[in-house]
Amino acid sequence: MTESTERRFPENFVWGSATAAYQIEGAVNEGGRGPSIWDTYCHTPGRTRNGETGDVAADHYHRWREDIALMKELGLQAYRLSISWSRVQPGGTGPLNPEGVRFYRDLLDALLEAGIEPVVTLYHWDLPQELQDTGGWVNRETAYAFAEYARHMARELGTRVTTWTTLNEPWCSAYLGYASGVHAPGHTDPAEALAAAHHLNLAHGLAASAIRDELGDDTPVSITLNLHVTRPADAERAADLEAAHRVDLVGNHIFLGPLLDGSYPTALLDLTRHITDWSFVQTGDLALIRQRIDVLGVNYYSTNYVRQLAPGEEPSGDSGGHGAGAASPWVALDDVEFLPSEPPLTAMGWNIEPEGLHELLTALDNAYDGLPLMVTENGAAFEDEPTTDAQGRVVVHDEQRIDYIARHLDAVAQAIEDGADVRGYFVWSLMDNFEWARGYSKRFGIVRVDYDTLERIPKDSARWYAEVVRTGIVRV
Ligand code: NOJ
Repeated sequence: MTESTERRFPENFVWGSATAAYQIEGAVNEGGRGPSIWDTYCHTPGRTRNGETGDVAADHYHRWREDIALMKELGLQAYRLSISWSRVQPGGTGPLNPEGVRFYRDLLDALLEAGIEPVVTLYHWDLPQELQDTGGWVNRETAYAFAEYARHMARELGTRVTTWTTLNEPWCSAYLGYASGVHAPGHTDPAEALAAAHHLNLAHGLAASAIRDELGDDTPVSITLNLHVTRPADAERAADLEAAHRVDLVGNHIFLGPLLDGSYPTALLDLTRHITDWSFVQTGDLALIRQRIDVLGVNYYSTNYVRQLAPGEEPSGDSGGHGAGAASPWVALDDVEFLPSEPPLTAMGWNIEPEGLHELLTALDNAYDGLPLMVTENGAAFEDEPTTDAQGRVVVHDEQRIDYIARHLDAVAQAIEDGADVRGYFVWSLMDNFEWARGYSKRFGIVRVDYDTLERIPKDSARWYAEVVRTGIVRV
């Protein structure tokens, strides 16, 4: 018999689940919504798995009351959702769409009524298409448009939202959208990716100011990053350590630098100088970007292993799952090999390494001196196999997901024990949803969505998580 450890979380620890608008809402042509870059991308042949789209998704737009009731039944204390910009402001600039605004107002009211705290993300990748038509995130104007949109939302929804998250995973918006092209808008230009990263940073800063301008200086603002935990393939090999350091620069410090330190690291500028001269960084931008962050959102799933390639050496295999033949999202790192992930793996092909989360949280705590943190996403896709129980009900015994979440919560508990100020945990995801380019094949939900009937079926992990939330205790 293996010994089990019991982890007790702090009383005020916030337990929630997360989703994003395009992944669950559907109803893309309803209620006055305008098109976003993800509509365009999905409807372009060859972009997503089997040409799947978010047109219907989990139909949350029509089933949100049921979804809130389910969260309430599970005892969830908080819900991280995103607002579809093109639903509330179809053109990205110009007039608001009252029906779209009403949708979110009603949703937030119902959450509050159910005693569930809404944590609202303003941008989870679904840029209004009209803004893409003028350059998207490569165009500085998009940052100003975002700030105006944020101001509108603060005005319209202000009193209902306790924490405003500006952006979700700008790494993905910049590098998957503009360098590897596996996300909308599907470009493959490293220079664009770096400009996009800067304009996303700027958008965050401008939006944070706009929100506080509307709602008061003490209004809590956050941003959610997918920081990479990167390890050298051979910890004894200086070149591999150096390669891991460069991944940190391109993947993490391009955001952490301006957001929290007030500058881009010189080493990052030097590393990327052959791609761009960084002239898109204008005087005053760094001051605009560095706004107080009340809580940093951390999304964590797995780790990377990297190896420095010898001059002329080609990476073997598919270099860490960018997709065979696909361009790399890692600009300026052609000489770095991302090793294929070692089992155990999730259905995404990602390795399972809970220790990486502990490491990341404690590293952030050390680097930023007690900065409040929140795990805004963590969870796993597995090949769920629904079965029928003795009463004829559909059930999903997703032991692997329970194990994954439990072990990551253990890592969070350890980080708290080591002094990190981790305020909460949001499981990704409340329900199965549209996993971007991977379509509906990858199920992350603790609630199953039957895509034929759109019925919601809580998996074993949902019941298990409900118990964790109720007791604040995790056994591993
Ligand atoms: C990160 C993203 O924020 C979310 O949209 C995505 O579904 C999950 N990770 C899983 O890949």
